Amino acid sequence: MNNFLEVQKLKRQFDSGEGEKITVLKEISFCAKRGETLSIIGRSGAGKSVLLHLLGGLDYPTTGKCLLDGKDIYNRNAEELAALRNRSIGFIFQFNQLLADFSAVENVMIPALIKGETKKDALAKANDLLSQMSLSNRANYKVNKLSGGEQQRIAIARALINDPALILADEPTGSLDYATGQMVLDILLKAVNRTKSTLIFVTHNLELASLMGYSLEISDGKIFKKSI
Ligand SMILES: Nc1ncnc2c1ncn2[C@@H]1O[C@H](COP(=O)(O)OP(=O)(O)OP(=O)(O)O)[C@@H](O)[C@H]1O
Ligand SMILES: [Mg+2]
Repeated sequence: MNNFLEVQKLKRQFDSGEGEKITVLKEISFCAKRGETLSIIGRSGAGKSVLLHLLGGLDYPTTGKCLLDGKDIYNRNAEELAALRNRSIGFIFQFNQLLADFSAVENVMIPALIKGETKKDALAKANDLLSQMSLSNRANYKVNKLSGGEQQRIAIARALINDPALILADEPTGSLDYATGQMVLDILLKAVNRTKSTLIFVTHNLELASLMGYSLEISDGKIFKKSI
């Protein structure tokens, strides 16, 4: 089977502000097939979020490529990139990035509406996902009235609504208690099974990391396969 995701010599530097360059990712390469799950671990500041933003087309590398289904993510115009992100990539941010003035169900519906689904279909899907997250009784709450863990589960539902082929989850269980974390992971793994999507799961929790097909560790800007 061909690789669905192919990361080729991805390098990301930032300006330190004092005329120097900081290299966070040093030409890292790895690949993943459809339906594969992998975890990314590494100490705080190692570059996990930087990598995930690059894979999600939210940032551009200094050099290097990232092919999704054989096509370079970065070699697209803004409109094509937005469509790719809307339809094929489900991104769960480390800090959930929900729209505070909208209700829980509205936040979940938005990607489906952008994709062009009817309001009725988007609402039905959003309510179904919120029910899987045990949040039906919070559907009409403004998200800024909800707890951190509830907001994170809404962000996960929003990431899954368009059945993305690539799910990028940046510490999605970091703010959840153990049981809720397990529930969320279970939902993510079910989504992967159902749609044969590829899941990249950033976590500090080695127990959860070990539930993925394999693990990669970022250390000193490089990436290593890790057995947990
Ligand atoms: N826009 C930016 N400009 C300059 N430096 C940045 C920028 N974004 C990230 N960095 C630096 O890149 C490094 C990696 O950051 P990143 O957020 O990827 O860490 P992380 O592995 O996700 O850590 P954590 O586990 O704490 O979330 C950090 O040293 C950070 O300061
Ligand atoms: Mg991070």
